[in-house]
Amino acid sequence: MTDVLNDPASGSKPWFLRGNYAPVADELTVGDLQVTGSIPATLSGLYVRNGSNPRDGAAGHWFFGDGMVHGVRLEKGRAVWYRNRYVRTPKWEKNLDIMDPESMFDPSASAANTHVLAHAKRIWALEEGHFPWEISRELETMGCDDFGGKLTTAFTAHPKLCPETNELHFFGYSPVAPHLTYHVLDAKGDLVHSAPITVPKGTMMHDFMITRDHAIFMDLPVVFNLDLVARGLPPIGWDDEYGARIGIMPRFGTDADIRWFEVDPCYVFHPLNAFVDGDRVVCDVGRHASMWRNSMDDFEPSYLYRWTFDMKTGSVHEQQLDDWSHAFPRVDDRVVGLRHRYGWVAGPRPGGAGEMGDPGVVARYDLVTGTKEIHDFGPSSHPGEFVFIQDSDAAAEDEGWVMGFVYDSATDSSDLVILDASSPSSAPVARIHLPQRVPFGFHGSWIDDSVM
Ligand SMILES: [Fe+2]
Repeated sequence: MTDVLNDPASGSKPWFLRGNYAPVADELTVGDLQVTGSIPATLSGLYVRNGSNPRDGAAGHWFFGDGMVHGVRLEKGRAVWYRNRYVRTPKWEKNLDIMDPESMFDPSASAANTHVLAHAKRIWALEEGHFPWEISRELETMGCDDFGGKLTTAFTAHPKLCPETNELHFFGYSPVAPHLTYHVLDAKGDLVHSAPITVPKGTMMHDFMITRDHAIFMDLPVVFNLDLVARGLPPIGWDDEYGARIGIMPRFGTDADIRWFEVDPCYVFHPLNAFVDGDRVVCDVGRHASMWRNSMDDFEPSYLYRWTFDMKTGSVHEQQLDDWSHAFPRVDDRVVGLRHRYGWVAGPRPGGAGEMGDPGVVARYDLVTGTKEIHDFGPSSHPGEFVFIQDSDAAAEDEGWVMGFVYDSATDSSDLVILDASSPSSAPVARIHLPQRVPFGFHGSWIDDSVM
């Protein structure tokens, strides 16, 4: 898919290869990082975030580059090290384009660039079209996982870890049948449930939701069309004819159990969370009015919406909760699938462009009071996704910290910044200065030593 527009030598690099979207060349290991402020002494673990870092400096889309994880180890108030490593998959080894048939149809040939999380004492780098790749706590690639041969579909980059059962609920989607399959890993990491689900066509299902009782699938009109490949185009785009449906099924359910609810056509990359409220299922999502209408560069901003599905009457209620756009919604991992009060997002500075790139602030939504509090990092600073870490297991939903990478274009450098979750607009608790800039990327996790 690499073409002249995407060739750095052409001097006309697309936006996702310029500035802090551009890849970094070096894999570093640097100890004892400089810190401004003080790192909470209770934090012992690894903050790690994944992103697209094309090995040869070129890619057909921001989403297509090779996965590179950036990690910072914290221990007893010290930033012990920073490391960044490619996830060494066959796609990386052979320098394949993600649209190359060898990458598309080899389930191990993942870009492994989208998310990184821990389950059952293992850490996986994930990308939604392939199997997961295990990495070590020092970010070295260990191997590809198919769960003893039981996994026969792709593994989403957005599985949901149930905080009550420690099951990991996930799904795989595909341009070819079966288009959608629901899976569950038990708390030990064994694949214990797989159920194909009937949908009209293969759609790009980037994320999904759970409640305490349900798995929730978003069948939205970004539809695969493999005929486009012959024209040299990505095989996917908006389809006005497809409609938009949300499928709600009991956990561990099968195709016969799912109920579909029509919603206004839209796209959702990322929900914030979902929960059960009596007979209703409530889903808070980042809703884009459309996505990739004419090309994969068409990108509508995302606004916080609440969908309410009445499981008794079948009614659907859609409500926009804010007119400020956002990216990277996250809740406290302890309330995934349960009623949440707070949501964390990145977004544009007041008056800034409502586009996906270059957020300037992190915000905490309070969905009980209907307010939000922002942390503005300043005109040259750009945060990515921020993740919440509780101060202790007994801590309330806002008692703890949020952390994420922040890039400063004035100094061309990045920090790992820690904010007090109970007072997000206050000055950062700590800024950990990194030895190189961290390109804008996707999703990450705090992996506490207590879970490894
Ligand atoms: Fe994502």
